[in-house]
Amino acid sequence: MDSKDKGLKPSRRSFLTGAVAAGAGAVAATVAKAEGVADPAITEVQPWRDALGAGVDARPYGIPSKYEVEAVRRDVPWLTADPISSVNFTPLHELDGIITPNGLCFERHHGGIAEVDPAGYRLMINGLVEKEIVFTLEDLKRFPRENHIYFLECAANSGMEWAGAQLNGVQFTHGMIHNVMYTGVPLRLLLEEAGVKTEGTWLLAEGADAAGMTRSIPMEKALDDCLIAFKMNGEALRPEQGYPVRLVVPGWEGNMWVKWIRRLEVGDAPWEHREETSKYTDLLADGVARRHTFEMDAKSVITNPSPQSPIKHGPGWTVITGVAWSGRGTIPRVDVTIDGGKNWHEARMSGPSLPKSMHRFYFEFEWDGSPLLLQSRAHDSTGYVQPTKQALREIRGENSIYHNNGIQTWYVNEQGIAENVEIS
Ligand code: MTE
Ligand code: CO
Repeated sequence: MDSKDKGLKPSRRSFLTGAVAAGAGAVAATVAKAEGVADPAITEVQPWRDALGAGVDARPYGIPSKYEVEAVRRDVPWLTADPISSVNFTPLHELDGIITPNGLCFERHHGGIAEVDPAGYRLMINGLVEKEIVFTLEDLKRFPRENHIYFLECAANSGMEWAGAQLNGVQFTHGMIHNVMYTGVPLRLLLEEAGVKTEGTWLLAEGADAAGMTRSIPMEKALDDCLIAFKMNGEALRPEQGYPVRLVVPGWEGNMWVKWIRRLEVGDAPWEHREETSKYTDLLADGVARRHTFEMDAKSVITNPSPQSPIKHGPGWTVITGVAWSGRGTIPRVDVTIDGGKNWHEARMSGPSLPKSMHRFYFEFEWDGSPLLLQSRAHDSTGYVQPTKQALREIRGENSIYHNNGIQTWYVNEQGIAENVEIS
């Protein structure tokens, strides 16, 4: 701690209590203010107290504080030829808890953002059904609706990291994910309304965007937990997330979550023979493709510290935090190591533990100022444990882009600066 820390000097005693408690999973650290510090930030009148503030009519729709300039989506221009068929990334290092604010949800479009007029919105169900139906948005809202919190992860998340550490920031390595509360109608209810014929085993979900994105969904999944969603985190979907209606396919790869959904065609086989509907495949070392890798495996990452979020306070009491998720259930446990895997500590989970949703974990410890090799390792409710990147490569080689759920390593130097590295 140096004088710049303006009195944020925790007592030695609280460190010890906290450090011991950290191992037990319950932390009660206090950061006491040092005595006798004359800090102008508290002793002087600040500008915001000196004048009246803006009134209730100033912001009909609220926006973040002007100081929160880092909490923005970012893209990597060299990754794609143009921003229309491209991706940007959620600033995970700026967030806490489990919910992704609507304005910070990463975006992945194949043909840009469709600006759909809700009055002209229609959803059609056709194909192997008793009755072909076209719903308006108002029709959809007359069905019983449900609320669920789910993560959406692009199958290509962390894809650039297969061959080795590449992008220097958790936003770029892991930011193709968001976690949102959806309000929508169970897809099962709409399919029941149309009456699926017994041969109907697959659904073709088609988007209304210029890309005409289409994906094949097995009927079993459609009848299980898919939603036709029109609200995210309580308000209307954002245009970039599929306004006014998107398909929610819990736990499964993001490309199946068709945005601006306009049609669901019931068929008796996946539509893979049609080139435009070909789904993502994972290329193995021998050139063989893995297919039907729909479920997202358990994964976790430390969001702070990370390359975009260094430790700023110097040695002393330090909070490590991150997120974990699994397409197969909940995350009962996350382990954290600060020495590259020599010793693992059980992290403290905080917040709702819901299936197919993000979970938040913390690990508090007293940093002695020496370099750290930080990693986290998720365990999901099926007993699956997040693998190392090397273990994944041994099975799938180095040609893959999709489904990289390997353990991420951050190297933190004596100054608290973090860097994306790999250790063997
Ligand atoms: N739906 C349509 N209609 N068009 C698209 O380009 N992209 C897919 C999927 N649904 C896409 C789409 C992909 S690859 C992903 S990862 C998710 O939407 C991204 O959802 P988001 O933009 O809400 O993050
Ligand atoms: Co995707």
